[in-house]
Amino acid sequence: MFKPFDEKPMPVDQGVMDWKSIYPTPYSKQEVDPYTKIRIILMNGIEVEATMFSHQFHRNCVNNDIRRELAMLRRIEQQQQKHINWLKPIDETQIETTIGYEHVAVDLTAWLAQNEPDPYVKEALDFALLEDFDHLYRFSNLLHLDQNIPSQNLVKNLVEITPGRPTIAEHRHPYDTVRNHVDFKSADIRTMLNTLIITAGEQQTMNFYMNLGNTYPNDLGRQLYQEIALIEEEHVTHYGSLLDPHSTWLENLLLHEYMECYLYYSFYQDEQDENIKPVWEMHLNQELSHLHKAAEMLSTHENKHWDEVVPGTFPRLLQFHDTRDYVRQILGEQVELTSDRETLSMVSDLPDNHTFFQYQDRVNHDVTAVPSHVVIDRHQNMHGQDYRAEVEPNPVKALTNRSADNTTVARSKNLARV
Ligand SMILES: [Fe+2]
Ligand SMILES: [Fe+2]
Ligand SMILES: [Fe+2]
Repeated sequence: MFKPFDEKPMPVDQGVMDWKSIYPTPYSKQEVDPYTKIRIILMNGIEVEATMFSHQFHRNCVNNDIRRELAMLRRIEQQQQKHINWLKPIDETQIETTIGYEHVAVDLTAWLAQNEPDPYVKEALDFALLEDFDHLYRFSNLLHLDQNIPSQNLVKNLVEITPGRPTIAEHRHPYDTVRNHVDFKSADIRTMLNTLIITAGEQQTMNFYMNLGNTYPNDLGRQLYQEIALIEEEHVTHYGSLLDPHSTWLENLLLHEYMECYLYYSFYQDEQDENIKPVWEMHLNQELSHLHKAAEMLSTHENKHWDEVVPGTFPRLLQFHDTRDYVRQILGEQVELTSDRETLSMVSDLPDNHTFFQYQDRVNHDVTAVPSHVVIDRHQNMHGQDYRAEVEPNPVKALTNRSADNTTVARSKNLARV
């Protein structure tokens, strides 16, 4: 069992890298293990969160002793982010990277849900899992429509490509996207880590689509990115609302560094790619120095011991694996769930005047203009059917028809249960 506070870390400033160490040898897009790729995508998102959290802390802090330490830590988080994000090779296109982003969303969310002790948080994870699963299907159809590339080749059959909760049904009133927060004082460490990790991961997907969605080379693709970027806004609100707002800034810094150590240690243990394994090892050593620094700052400025915030031993390590059966099961059981303020509800149980229907009517009143529907429709017109990679037919009967895109599942009250 790894105990991060028992390690003897190097001084923080020894983590500063020179240009040669910051610019990595990229992976090969033909040969990379899809799980290596999703570890890279996730850790980029984690480093982006480390950086942006630190900037917000800095702007809300009057103490320059703290602000200088934050600037030091943040510079290294920034270097780590560059080191990881530049592992993407030159020939991997934006849409190919996007398939990786949605693959992470599916496998990460499923793993976290399977390892989540708090039923309310597990419910929240299962809920958004089905939505990112559908994004993978919509983007895969775009990729196949435009370039004839089967996404299957990119994810190497580790995840199925088939409709989830249809994206058109995911557009909800903002009031229905806010969940209750967790109490970190009584929560299991797995819940704290899971909510921090998934919020950072979804936030990076949101950032990626909001910044690069407009560079896709045709209108339909640009429209699809716009639409899915807005679902990611919902997901970041959904997950961000689970985090405990009572944590102080310094407690939160400690939590962030602890999460980074946990993930780098997990991935260092699991990584088979010999070019990438040393990256996780190097960053783990940098993060251990950050964690000890954060603990020191918490003690100096708030007179709190780290063990009031996190335990000394890591919980079960994060290990990506095949989650196809789990996703299938959740899809079969929960496709028709939507959100009713802080709780989840079957669409058929909502009153006719619910904010869900009001919002749907506002944005989706013209179904033929909804990009996530149009992309499937166009693929069906061109190839006679949509693009899928399934082990068995979709577990939801209404989603098994490959020649007509279903726009009523999880959206219309009057649909007979399937
Ligand atoms: Fe970091
Ligand atoms: Fe998402
Ligand atoms: Fe860090």
